[in-house]
Amino acid sequence: MSPFRITRTLPEDATDAALRADVRHGLTGTPKTLPPKWFYDAHGSELFERITELPEYYPTRAEREILVDRAGEIAAAARARTLVELGSGSSEKTRYLIDALTGLDTYVPVDVSESALTQAGQALIAERPGLDVHALIADFTAVLALPDTPGPRLVAFLGGTIGNLLPDERREFLASVRALLAPGDALLLGTDLVKDERVLVRAYDDAAGVTAAFDKNVLTVVNRELGADFDPDAFEHVALWDAGNEWIEMRLRSLTAQTVKIPALDLAVDFEDGEELRTEVSAKFREEGVRTELAAAGMELSHWWTDGAGRFALSLSTAR
Ligand code: SAH
Ligand code: TRP
Repeated sequence: MSPFRITRTLPEDATDAALRADVRHGLTGTPKTLPPKWFYDAHGSELFERITELPEYYPTRAEREILVDRAGEIAAAARARTLVELGSGSSEKTRYLIDALTGLDTYVPVDVSESALTQAGQALIAERPGLDVHALIADFTAVLALPDTPGPRLVAFLGGTIGNLLPDERREFLASVRALLAPGDALLLGTDLVKDERVLVRAYDDAAGVTAAFDKNVLTVVNRELGADFDPDAFEHVALWDAGNEWIEMRLRSLTAQTVKIPALDLAVDFEDGEELRTEVSAKFREEGVRTELAAAGMELSHWWTDGAGRFALSLSTAR
């Protein structure tokens, strides 16, 4: 059998139906919203990789620093034979874990982006002969059916992606992760931390405009998939810090009064001049909050590691 398998857990027509439902719901509500998973078509995944290299976008470098320093400790605590990674993207930082986990047989990257999974998977099997890579094209907010692979399992959720879920979604998500953990399994969670507002806002509104292009890419996806006529240049990218919720909010602000047609939904959407569409939140965390949310989902945090500058944290938890 080939050491690289890719399985689609959601048929393409179900994905299409989900996109239609999300766009209809999000663009007919007040305020208008669009869920973040639709950012990541092949171009979106590419733009995200460019974000990770921006001077302003510190989370990737901070998390990599922790992984470089702590992979040995993580591996010793987890002793995993299967590494499952949710929202794996390029799997670039994951290599530190894969190398440290000496007894690892199988890597299961899970992502909605087929292009990211294929690229990452092909590269990994070339670099790590002997590692079984079983990629899953799946939505990690839906019920996850994982392949039957040897335990113990380490479930990794890196990049601070948990912050892109709203509080209710986060609660549900953590409960479903808890349900995946057998005794001896563990969760490795990456969380970006609350810090100076200016540093945060710059990370989501870079000088080169890559984040703006990434944010607007969701409009291009809706144009392509649903025949809509969004003009990305008629919107501007906005990133602001919501101090009450402790999250960065990304929005697309309409630069004019305009009507956008979405033929596949038989829908016309009016935007007022200056009206904002919320595309994504990126919540920032504190240790106590992470511990409490994990405990509420039936998990116990055993390790908390930060980078030297205290910008980002990795935590390790087990089922209680
Ligand atoms: N873990 C990588 C990538 C983070 S970007 C890193 O740390 O750099 C977020 C990733 O999650 C993207 O690859 C995106 O395609 C994926 N993603 C976003 N929403 C998803 C969902 N609902 N289900 C599965 N994957 C999702
Ligand atoms: N998980 C990333 C984060 O919250 C996703 C992200 C980074 C993002 N930059 C973005 C999402 C800009 C939307 C727009 O940091």
